[in-house]
Amino acid sequence: MLETALPKKGPAVRAALLTDTAESIAEAAQALNHGHLVALPTETVYGLGGDGFNPQAVMQIFKAKGRPSDHPVILHVADLDHAKSLSASWPESADRLANAFWPGPLTIILKRSDRVLDLVTGGQDTVGIRMPSHPLARALLTKFSACGSGVIAAPSANRFGAVSPTQAAHVLSGIGPWLTEDDRILDGGPCAVGVESTIIDLSGPSPRLLRPGGLSAEKIAAVLGLSASTLRVTSGSDTTVPRVSGSLQSHYAPRAIAQLVPPEELAEAAKKIIEKQPGQRVIGLWRSAVLTPVAGVEIWPMPEDPEGYARVLYCCLHDADKAGADVLLIESPPSDAGWEAVADRLMRACAAR
Ligand code: TXA
Ligand code: MG
Repeated sequence: MLETALPKKGPAVRAALLTDTAESIAEAAQALNHGHLVALPTETVYGLGGDGFNPQAVMQIFKAKGRPSDHPVILHVADLDHAKSLSASWPESADRLANAFWPGPLTIILKRSDRVLDLVTGGQDTVGIRMPSHPLARALLTKFSACGSGVIAAPSANRFGAVSPTQAAHVLSGIGPWLTEDDRILDGGPCAVGVESTIIDLSGPSPRLLRPGGLSAEKIAAVLGLSASTLRVTSGSDTTVPRVSGSLQSHYAPRAIAQLVPPEELAEAAKKIIEKQPGQRVIGLWRSAVLTPVAGVEIWPMPEDPEGYARVLYCCLHDADKAGADVLLIESPPSDAGWEAVADRLMRACAAR
Protein backbone atom coordinates (compact mmCIF):
# COMPACT_ATOMS: atom_id res chain seq x y z
CA MET A 1 0.00 0.00 0.00
CA LEU A 2 1.40 3.38 -0.96
CA GLU A 3 -0.22 6.52 0.41
CA THR A 4 1.36 9.41 -1.40
CA ALA A 5 -1.24 12.19 -1.24
CA LEU A 6 -0.69 14.96 1.27
CA PRO A 7 -3.39 15.50 3.87
CA LYS A 8 -5.88 17.89 2.27
CA LYS A 9 -6.42 20.39 5.07
CA GLY A 10 -4.63 21.93 7.97
CA PRO A 11 -1.24 23.61 8.26
CA ALA A 12 1.76 21.95 6.63
CA VAL A 13 3.13 20.51 9.88
CA ARG A 14 0.78 19.85 12.78
CA ALA A 15 2.75 17.55 15.10
CA ALA A 16 4.14 19.31 18.20
CA LEU A 17 7.91 19.65 18.48
CA LEU A 18 9.17 18.75 21.96
CA THR A 19 12.58 19.45 23.47
CA ASP A 20 14.60 17.46 25.98
CA THR A 21 12.67 17.75 29.27
CA ALA A 22 11.06 15.25 31.65
CA GLU A 23 7.65 16.69 30.68
CA SER A 24 8.39 16.14 27.01
CA ILE A 25 9.36 12.52 27.62
CA ALA A 26 6.18 11.94 29.63
CA GLU A 27 4.05 13.62 26.95
CA ALA A 28 5.70 11.56 24.20
CA ALA A 29 5.22 8.30 26.16
CA GLN A 30 1.54 9.18 26.65
CA ALA A 31 1.20 9.89 22.92
CA LEU A 32 2.61 6.41 22.19
CA ASN A 33 0.26 4.91 24.75
CA HIS A 34 -2.71 6.50 22.99
CA GLY A 35 -1.65 5.02 19.64
CA HIS A 36 -0.10 8.21 18.24
CA LEU A 37 3.30 8.52 16.60
CA VAL A 38 6.47 10.01 18.07
CA ALA A 39 9.46 10.87 15.93
CA LEU A 40 12.45 10.26 18.17
CA PRO A 41 16.20 10.85 17.94
CA THR A 42 18.47 7.81 17.99
CA GLU A 43 22.26 7.81 17.71
CA THR A 44 21.95 6.69 14.05
CA VAL A 45 19.02 8.60 12.50
CA TYR A 46 15.63 9.84 13.70
CA GLY A 47 12.96 7.14 13.87
CA LEU A 48 9.20 7.39 13.43
CA GLY A 49 7.95 5.50 16.48
CA GLY A 50 4.66 3.89 17.42
CA ASP A 51 3.60 1.33 20.03
CA GLY A 52 4.97 -1.93 18.63
CA PHE A 53 1.95 -3.83 19.94
CA ASN A 54 -0.72 -1.47 18.63
CA PRO A 55 -1.72 -2.47 15.06
CA GLN A 56 -3.36 0.92 14.36
CA ALA A 57 -0.19 2.74 15.38
CA VAL A 58 1.97 0.49 13.21
CA MET A 59 -0.41 0.97 10.27
CA GLN A 60 -0.18 4.71 10.79
CA ILE A 61 3.63 4.51 10.55
CA PHE A 62 3.36 2.80 7.15
CA LYS A 63 0.84 5.39 6.01
CA ALA A 64 2.89 8.38 7.11
CA LYS A 65 6.01 6.95 5.46
CA GLY A 66 4.21 5.86 2.31
CA ARG A 67 5.99 2.54 2.80
CA PRO A 68 4.80 -0.75 1.25
CA SER A 69 3.25 -2.95 3.93
CA ASP A 70 5.54 -5.92 3.29
CA HIS A 71 8.60 -4.02 4.46
CA PRO A 72 9.21 -5.01 8.10
CA VAL A 73 9.96 -2.46 10.81
CA ILE A 74 12.48 -2.71 13.65
CA LEU A 75 11.32 -2.98 17.27
CA HIS A 76 13.22 -0.77 19.74
CA VAL A 77 13.61 -1.82 23.37
CA ALA A 78 15.11 -0.43 26.58
CA ASP A 79 16.46 -3.68 28.00
CA LEU A 80 17.35 -7.31 27.33
CA ASP A 81 14.18 -8.70 28.92
CA HIS A 82 12.05 -6.87 26.37
CA ALA A 83 14.38 -7.99 23.57
CA LYS A 84 14.19 -11.65 24.61
CA SER A 85 10.40 -11.50 24.90
CA LEU A 86 10.20 -10.61 21.20
CA SER A 87 12.21 -13.57 19.91
CA ALA A 88 11.27 -17.26 19.78
CA SER A 89 14.78 -18.21 20.84
CA TRP A 90 17.80 -16.24 22.00
CA PRO A 91 20.99 -17.79 20.62
CA GLU A 92 24.36 -17.43 22.31
CA SER A 93 25.51 -15.24 19.41
CA ALA A 94 22.74 -12.74 20.25
CA ASP A 95 23.95 -12.65 23.84
CA ARG A 96 27.49 -11.94 22.72
CA LEU A 97 26.50 -9.15 20.34
CA ALA A 98 24.02 -7.58 22.76
CA ASN A 99 26.62 -7.60 25.55
CA ALA A 100 29.26 -6.08 23.30
CA PHE A 101 27.24 -3.51 21.34
CA TRP A 102 23.91 -2.68 23.00
CA PRO A 103 22.81 -0.06 23.53
CA GLY A 104 24.17 1.01 20.15
CA PRO A 105 23.83 1.05 16.35
CA LEU A 106 23.16 -2.66 15.84
CA THR A 107 19.90 -4.38 14.82
CA ILE A 108 19.66 -8.12 15.38
CA ILE A 109 17.27 -10.27 13.32
CA LEU A 110 15.93 -13.33 15.14
CA LYS A 111 13.03 -15.75 14.82
CA ARG A 112 10.02 -13.85 16.15
CA SER A 113 7.95 -14.80 19.17
CA ASP A 114 4.15 -15.23 18.85
CA ARG A 115 3.67 -11.85 20.57
CA VAL A 116 5.07 -9.94 17.60
CA LEU A 117 2.50 -8.51 15.17
CA ASP A 118 2.46 -9.71 11.54
CA LEU A 119 2.27 -6.05 10.56
CA VAL A 120 5.65 -5.41 12.17
CA THR A 121 7.42 -8.30 10.44
CA GLY A 122 5.75 -7.90 7.06
CA GLY A 123 4.46 -11.45 7.54
CA GLN A 124 7.98 -12.92 7.90
CA ASP A 125 8.90 -15.34 10.68
CA THR A 126 11.71 -13.09 11.89
CA VAL A 127 11.88 -9.81 13.77
CA GLY A 128 14.46 -6.99 13.90
CA ILE A 129 15.36 -5.81 17.41
CA ARG A 130 17.47 -2.86 18.45
CA MET A 131 18.42 -1.14 21.71
CA PRO A 132 19.37 2.45 20.84
CA SER A 133 21.88 4.43 22.91
CA HIS A 134 20.68 8.01 22.39
CA PRO A 135 19.80 9.35 25.87
CA LEU A 136 16.41 10.69 24.71
CA ALA A 137 15.48 7.41 23.01
CA ARG A 138 16.48 5.54 26.15
CA ALA A 139 14.53 7.90 28.39
CA LEU A 140 11.44 7.51 26.20
CA LEU A 141 11.76 3.71 26.11
CA THR A 142 12.17 3.57 29.91
CA LYS A 143 9.14 5.80 30.44
CA PHE A 144 7.12 3.82 27.90
CA SER A 145 8.12 0.59 29.68
CA ALA A 146 6.65 2.00 32.89
CA CYS A 147 3.40 3.27 31.38
CA GLY A 148 2.92 1.12 28.26
CA SER A 149 4.26 -1.83 26.25
CA GLY A 150 7.83 -0.52 26.28
CA VAL A 151 8.36 -1.61 22.67
CA ILE A 152 8.62 1.06 19.96
CA ALA A 153 8.30 0.10 16.30
CA ALA A 154 10.34 2.64 14.36
CA PRO A 155 11.60 2.89 10.81
CA SER A 156 13.65 5.93 9.88
CA ALA A 157 11.44 9.04 10.00
CA ASN A 158 11.55 9.88 6.28
CA ARG A 159 9.14 9.30 3.41
CA PHE A 160 9.81 6.00 1.67
CA GLY A 161 12.93 6.15 -0.52
CA ALA A 162 13.98 9.60 0.71
CA VAL A 163 17.08 10.51 2.71
CA SER A 164 16.89 9.61 6.41
CA PRO A 165 16.66 12.49 8.90
CA THR A 166 19.57 13.22 11.24
CA GLN A 167 18.02 16.36 12.74
CA ALA A 168 14.52 17.22 13.97
CA ALA A 169 14.35 19.86 11.21
CA HIS A 170 14.69 17.12 8.58
CA VAL A 171 11.76 15.27 10.16
CA LEU A 172 9.64 18.43 10.13
CA SER A 173 10.34 19.25 6.51
CA GLY A 174 10.20 15.66 5.27
CA ILE A 175 7.54 13.57 6.94
CA GLY A 176 6.13 16.40 9.10
CA PRO A 177 3.16 17.15 6.80
CA TRP A 178 2.04 13.53 7.08
CA LEU A 179 1.84 13.64 10.89
CA THR A 180 -1.23 14.74 12.86
CA GLU A 181 -1.67 17.19 15.73
CA ASP A 182 -1.69 14.21 18.13
CA ASP A 183 1.76 13.08 16.98
CA ARG A 184 4.98 14.39 18.50
CA ILE A 185 8.52 15.10 17.31
CA LEU A 186 11.23 14.89 19.98
CA ASP A 187 14.21 17.13 19.22
CA GLY A 188 17.42 15.53 20.46
CA GLY A 189 19.87 17.49 18.31
CA PRO A 190 21.95 16.08 15.44
CA CYS A 191 22.52 12.30 15.41
CA ALA A 192 26.07 11.29 16.37
CA VAL A 193 26.45 8.32 13.99
CA GLY A 194 24.50 9.70 11.04
CA VAL A 195 23.77 6.48 9.09
CA GLU A 196 21.39 3.68 10.07
CA SER A 197 22.21 0.73 12.30
CA THR A 198 24.07 -2.31 11.01
CA ILE A 199 21.65 -5.21 10.55
CA ILE A 200 22.87 -8.70 11.34
CA ASP A 201 20.67 -11.72 10.73
CA LEU A 202 21.04 -14.42 13.39
CA SER A 203 17.88 -16.29 12.39
CA GLY A 204 19.56 -18.67 9.94
CA PRO A 205 22.27 -21.33 10.12
CA SER A 206 25.05 -18.71 10.09
CA PRO A 207 25.17 -14.96 10.85
CA ARG A 208 24.68 -12.68 7.85
CA LEU A 209 25.20 -8.98 7.33
CA LEU A 210 21.97 -7.58 5.82
CA ARG A 211 22.85 -3.88 5.92
CA PRO A 212 26.21 -2.22 6.67
CA GLY A 213 25.76 0.65 9.11
CA GLY A 214 26.96 2.47 12.18
CA LEU A 215 28.82 -0.56 13.56
CA SER A 216 31.49 -2.17 11.37
CA ALA A 217 31.16 -5.75 10.16
CA GLU A 218 34.74 -6.30 11.39
CA LYS A 219 33.79 -5.49 14.99
CA ILE A 220 30.77 -7.79 14.82
CA ALA A 221 32.78 -10.59 13.26
CA ALA A 222 35.49 -10.29 15.92
CA VAL A 223 32.95 -10.75 18.72
CA LEU A 224 31.45 -13.76 16.93
CA GLY A 225 34.88 -15.27 16.28
CA LEU A 226 34.35 -15.10 12.50
CA SER A 227 35.88 -13.25 9.60
CA ALA A 228 33.92 -10.28 8.25
CA SER A 229 33.85 -11.86 4.79
CA THR A 230 31.79 -14.82 6.06
CA LEU A 231 29.17 -12.33 7.29
CA ARG A 232 28.96 -10.80 3.84
CA VAL A 233 28.16 -14.06 2.03
CA THR A 234 24.64 -13.80 0.59
CA SER A 235 22.47 -16.83 -0.04
CA GLY A 236 20.87 -15.20 -3.07
CA SER A 237 17.85 -17.43 -2.59
CA ASP A 238 15.24 -15.01 -1.30
CA THR A 239 14.87 -12.13 -3.70
CA THR A 240 11.10 -11.80 -3.70
CA VAL A 241 10.54 -10.42 -0.19
CA PRO A 242 11.99 -6.94 0.29
CA ARG A 243 13.40 -7.88 3.67
CA VAL A 244 15.57 -4.82 3.95
CA SER A 245 14.04 -1.88 2.15
CA GLY A 246 17.35 -0.06 2.37
CA SER A 247 18.62 -2.85 0.15
CA LEU A 248 16.55 -1.58 -2.77
CA GLN A 249 18.96 -0.14 -5.28
CA SER A 250 17.63 3.39 -5.24
CA HIS A 251 17.10 4.48 -1.66
CA TYR A 252 18.34 7.26 0.59
CA ALA A 253 18.05 9.39 -2.54
CA PRO A 254 18.18 13.19 -2.73
CA ARG A 255 16.09 15.09 -5.31
CA ALA A 256 19.21 16.29 -7.13
CA ILE A 257 20.84 13.97 -9.64
CA ALA A 258 23.72 12.45 -7.72
CA GLN A 259 26.78 10.99 -9.38
CA LEU A 260 29.76 9.15 -7.89
CA VAL A 261 33.07 10.00 -9.55
CA PRO A 262 36.62 8.79 -8.76
CA PRO A 263 38.83 11.59 -7.38
CA GLU A 264 41.09 11.85 -10.42
CA GLU A 265 38.10 12.29 -12.76
CA LEU A 266 36.20 14.93 -10.75
CA ALA A 267 37.48 18.03 -12.51
CA GLU A 268 36.85 16.58 -15.97
CA ALA A 269 33.38 15.30 -15.05
CA ALA A 270 32.46 18.69 -13.62
CA LYS A 271 33.54 20.50 -16.76
CA LYS A 272 31.50 18.16 -18.96
CA ILE A 273 28.34 18.62 -16.88
CA ILE A 274 28.66 22.39 -16.91
CA GLU A 275 29.37 22.53 -20.65
CA LYS A 276 26.43 20.26 -21.42
CA GLN A 277 23.93 22.31 -19.49
CA PRO A 278 25.20 25.71 -18.39
CA GLY A 279 23.37 27.40 -15.52
CA GLN A 280 22.83 24.23 -13.51
CA ARG A 281 23.62 24.38 -9.83
CA VAL A 282 26.38 21.82 -9.36
CA ILE A 283 27.52 20.96 -5.84
CA GLY A 284 30.64 18.86 -5.30
CA LEU A 285 30.86 16.75 -2.14
CA TRP A 286 34.62 16.38 -2.22
CA ARG A 287 36.95 15.33 0.55
CA SER A 288 39.37 18.05 1.62
CA ALA A 289 42.48 16.49 0.08
CA VAL A 290 41.20 17.05 -3.46
CA LEU A 291 39.97 20.59 -3.20
CA THR A 292 40.85 21.86 -6.64
CA PRO A 293 38.40 24.57 -7.56
CA VAL A 294 36.50 24.07 -10.83
CA ALA A 295 34.60 27.03 -12.27
CA GLY A 296 30.87 26.53 -11.80
CA VAL A 297 31.16 23.92 -9.04
CA GLU A 298 30.37 24.84 -5.47
CA ILE A 299 32.60 22.57 -3.41
CA TRP A 300 31.33 21.38 -0.05
CA PRO A 301 34.39 19.87 1.68
CA MET A 302 33.67 16.49 3.26
CA PRO A 303 35.48 14.89 6.21
CA GLU A 304 38.31 12.50 5.40
CA ASP A 305 37.49 9.93 8.08
CA PRO A 306 34.54 7.57 7.57
CA GLU A 307 32.90 8.29 10.93
CA GLY A 308 33.04 12.04 10.38
CA TYR A 309 31.77 11.58 6.82
CA ALA A 310 28.87 9.37 7.93
CA ARG A 311 27.89 11.92 10.59
CA VAL A 312 27.36 14.73 8.06
CA LEU A 313 26.42 12.84 4.89
CA TYR A 314 22.61 12.88 5.16
CA CYS A 315 22.65 16.46 6.38
CA CYS A 316 24.61 17.44 3.26
CA LEU A 317 22.10 15.62 1.04
CA HIS A 318 19.21 17.42 2.77
CA ASP A 319 21.03 20.76 2.54
CA ALA A 320 21.85 20.24 -1.14
CA ASP A 321 18.16 19.67 -1.90
CA LYS A 322 17.25 22.73 0.14
CA ALA A 323 19.84 24.75 -1.77
CA GLY A 324 18.18 23.68 -5.03
CA ALA A 325 21.13 21.66 -6.33
CA ASP A 326 20.56 20.18 -9.80
CA VAL A 327 23.58 17.90 -9.76
CA LEU A 328 25.60 16.46 -6.90
CA LEU A 329 29.05 15.39 -7.95
CA ILE A 330 30.27 13.11 -5.19
CA GLU A 331 33.85 11.93 -4.86
CA SER A 332 33.90 8.11 -4.61
CA PRO A 333 34.85 6.96 -1.14
CA PRO A 334 37.95 4.82 -0.51
CA SER A 335 37.37 1.11 -0.91
CA ASP A 336 38.59 0.02 2.54
CA ALA A 337 36.24 -1.69 4.95
CA GLY A 338 35.89 1.33 7.25
CA TRP A 339 33.97 3.11 4.48
CA GLU A 340 31.51 0.26 3.84
CA ALA A 341 28.38 1.94 5.23
CA VAL A 342 29.14 5.31 3.61
CA ALA A 343 29.92 3.64 0.27
CA ASP A 344 26.66 1.68 0.46
CA ARG A 345 24.54 4.79 1.10
CA LEU A 346 26.33 6.83 -1.56
CA MET A 347 25.83 4.10 -4.12
CA ARG A 348 22.09 4.00 -3.39
CA ALA A 349 21.79 7.79 -3.33
CA CYS A 350 23.29 7.80 -6.81
CA ALA A 351 21.27 4.89 -8.27
CA ALA A 352 18.94 6.03 -11.03
CA ARG A 353 15.30 6.19 -9.95
O1 TXA B 1 19.31 2.92 12.68
C1 TXA B 1 18.26 2.39 12.39
O2 TXA B 1 18.15 1.15 12.19
C2 TXA B 1 17.02 3.27 12.28
C3 TXA B 1 16.69 3.82 13.67
C4 TXA B 1 15.44 4.64 13.67
O3 TXA B 1 16.60 2.77 14.58
N1 TXA B 1 15.91 2.55 11.75
C5 TXA B 1 15.84 2.17 10.47
O4 TXA B 1 14.65 1.56 10.15
O5 TXA B 1 16.72 2.37 9.68
P1 TXA B 1 14.23 1.33 8.64
O6 TXA B 1 12.88 0.70 8.69
O7 TXA B 1 14.32 2.58 7.88
O8 TXA B 1 15.25 0.28 8.18
C6 TXA B 1 15.27 -0.97 8.83
C7 TXA B 1 15.44 -2.04 7.84
C8 TXA B 1 14.32 -2.06 6.83
O9 TXA B 1 14.90 -1.97 5.57
C9 TXA B 1 13.64 -3.36 7.06
O10 TXA B 1 13.20 -3.94 5.86
C10 TXA B 1 14.70 -4.19 7.77
O11 TXA B 1 15.38 -3.27 8.55
N2 TXA B 1 14.10 -5.20 8.61
C11 TXA B 1 13.28 -5.03 9.64
N3 TXA B 1 12.86 -6.21 10.13
C12 TXA B 1 13.46 -7.16 9.38
C13 TXA B 1 13.42 -8.58 9.34
N4 TXA B 1 12.69 -9.26 10.20
N5 TXA B 1 14.15 -9.22 8.42
C14 TXA B 1 14.92 -8.52 7.54
N6 TXA B 1 14.98 -7.18 7.50
C15 TXA B 1 14.26 -6.51 8.40
MG1 MG C 1 14.86 3.78 6.37
